Order: sequence, then C-alpha cells, then structure tokens
Amino acid sequence: MLFDIRKEGWIEVICGPMFAGKTEELIRRIHRLEYAKRKYMVFKPIIDNRYDKTDVVSHSGVNHGAIAIASPRDILQHIDHTVEAVAIDEVQFFDEDIVIICEYLAMNGTRVVVSGLDMDFSGEPFPVMKELLVRAEFVTKLTAICMKCGAPATKSQRLINGKPARFDDPIILVGASESYEARCRHCHEVADRPNILDRLKEI
Ligand code: TTP
Ligand code: MG
Repeated sequence: MLFDIRKEGWIEVICGPMFAGKTEELIRRIHRLEYAKRKYMVFKPIIDNRYDKTDVVSHSGVNHGAIAIASPRDILQHIDHTVEAVAIDEVQFFDEDIVIICEYLAMNGTRVVVSGLDMDFSGEPFPVMKELLVRAEFVTKLTAICMKCGAPATKSQRLINGKPARFDDPIILVGASESYEARCRHCHEVADRPNILDRLKEI
C-alpha cells in the first residue's frame, strides 16, 4: 500500500479513569478542529448507551454528535479520503481491530484522536488501550478526584449495592455514578484481588 507522505497523520490518546473529563477533552479537541475548518468524523461504540445513542456526552453535559458503530471496520465504511481527522470515544470497548484501523488511518495522513479508560474496575489494563498507548504519538493521562480522600484518582471503583465488585466480575458494566466512583490507588478496593505481596513472592 502507498501512503501519502505529504499529509500529516498521527494517533493521540486521552486516557484515565471514569469522571476524569476524557469525553470533555475529546470534545474540546473536536471544537478546535471545527475552528480550523478541518473535515472530521466522530465515532463511538454502540455498547455505551448512557444518555444518548448517537452523541458523545460528558458528565458536565457537553455533547457532540457521533456515529455509533458495532465494529472498528465500520469506520472505513463511513469515511473517505476527504476526512482529515477521526475522533473516537469509549475506545476501550472495541475489539483489537481498532488498533489496526487507527494505525492505518494515521499512516494514511489522518489525525486520530481516541479517548477511553486505561484500566477496568479491577485495575487491570484494557488490552486495546495498552496497545494504543504505546503506539500513540501523543498521550494525555487525565486524573479524577478520589471520592474518598480527595487525592488525584487514577482508578475506577465499581460498587455493587455499595460494596466493591469482585476481581473476576464481568469487565463490561455500562453505568455512571450509580455503580462507579473515582478513587486513588490507596482507596481503590477490589474484592478477592490477588494480593500484591503474594505476587511479589513469585518473582
Ligand atoms: P467513561 O466515559 O470512561 O466514564 P466517564 O464519562 O465517567 O469519564 P469521562 O468524564 O472521563 O469521560 O465511561 C466508562 C464506561 O465504561 C461506563 O459506561 C462504565 C463502563 N465501564 C465498564 O464497562 N467496565 C469497567 O471496568 C469500567 C471501569 C467502566
Ligand atoms: Mg466519557
């Protein structure tokens, strides 16, 4: 495949825990593309049905139209060579094809801005985010505020009936403040999480 070397093209990742303002930051960058009169498109996975089916929506109520897609390959159906930038929210929910699609778009001169969770509720990385983070030219890791102690929060606390979720609970549970809080490393709780001292003994 021939890549057009006259064009720009790179990957930007916005990551962090829930309640960090990732969607707001994505929308801020989209507005700047608008001011620059760039042709762009916004996508999100169909799985996130919070608030609105076809908008990316932040907690502060800022929103922007988006195309909800089931598979990363759908992006290629929607764009053509005139699209200069692609923004994707909740990118952690896509399968690993999203990595190849983002790489392809960036190599082809498209500015790719993705936003998503770096870690799931158990504190383990979302695999596609791990891949995108190392491949990106630009990374912005946002923090939230720990809802227990007020320190900078890097983790998403899942609470089921007010109690910490278990380590082996299903990874996907769409929701907001009814099921999640932002927490710092020290206040983040996961029931039955493998003890770090046990893991230390193994090395
Ligand atoms: P986010 O947009 O990351 O959450 P947010 O809107 O609070 O953050 P921001 O302000 O930074 O944009 O949405 C996370 C979604 O992922 C939400 O629907 C809950 C879901 N989720 C899981 O399915 N599994 C998990 O382990 C975690 C932590 C979240
Ligand atoms: Mg968000």
